[in-house]
Amino acid sequence: MISIENLNRYFKSGDTSFHVLKDINLEVLEGECVVLRGVSGSGKTTLLSIMAGLDRPSSGKLLVDGESIAKLPDLHISAFRAKKIGIIFQHFNLLEHLSASENVMIPLIPSELNMTEVAQRVKRSLEIANISHKATRPAGRLSGGEKQRVAIARALVADPSVILCDEPTANLDRDNSLKFIDILKDLHNMGKTIIVATHDPLFDNLSFASRIVPMQDGSIVSKEQGVGSSE
Ligand SMILES: Nc1ncnc2c1ncn2[C@@H]1O[C@H](COP(=O)(O)OP(=O)(O)O)[C@@H](O)[C@H]1O
Ligand SMILES: [Mg+2]
Repeated sequence: MISIENLNRYFKSGDTSFHVLKDINLEVLEGECVVLRGVSGSGKTTLLSIMAGLDRPSSGKLLVDGESIAKLPDLHISAFRAKKIGIIFQHFNLLEHLSASENVMIPLIPSELNMTEVAQRVKRSLEIANISHKATRPAGRLSGGEKQRVAIARALVADPSVILCDEPTANLDRDNSLKFIDILKDLHNMGKTIIVATHDPLFDNLSFASRIVPMQDGSIVSKEQGVGSSE
């Protein structure tokens, strides 16, 4: 589903170049749930942004569902992302003055669905994310856990095959983090391909995650150093 080969990302600032992703190789199969684990600054967000087509690699290959998205023009990337990829962020990124269901509807605005289909999709996504009971409430008046469930519904509404989560529980308490993980499990059972970037230990032993991929200093490493046990 996602295939990354020898991918590098440099950021230039004046005369200095920062090598932020270093020769990344990663294959994620359809239906897999992969946890990308690494401390802050290890390159997780940069890598997810590239997978989502929000940023482009400096070199290397990236295929998402067989499509070389880094080579697509911006307009085509947006259309590809809208159909194939749902993204869940640490800070929820909701429009606070809009209701929960209006927020969930937004990704469907460019689609050609009629209003009945849109309403059905929104309803179904809110149900899956277990937040139907707050559908009409402005997002700004929801708790953190509720906001993240609205964000899950929004990520789902266009029925993407890939769901990318960037530190999804960083602003949630333990109870809401566990609820988030429960919903993630449902998405996994629905066959979604899921990648979670996190350093939250709650993701260390997910029953449904196929792998933990440790990142350090912009590289994928076989084993993290200085994390967990003292061996
Ligand atoms: N636009 C940018 N320009 C320069 N450096 C950046 C930029 N974006 C990220 N970085 C740097 O890349 C490194 C990895 O950042 P990031 O991908 O956000 O890591 P993480 O999500 O794991 O915390 C950090 O050192 C960060 O400062
Ligand atoms: Mg990050």
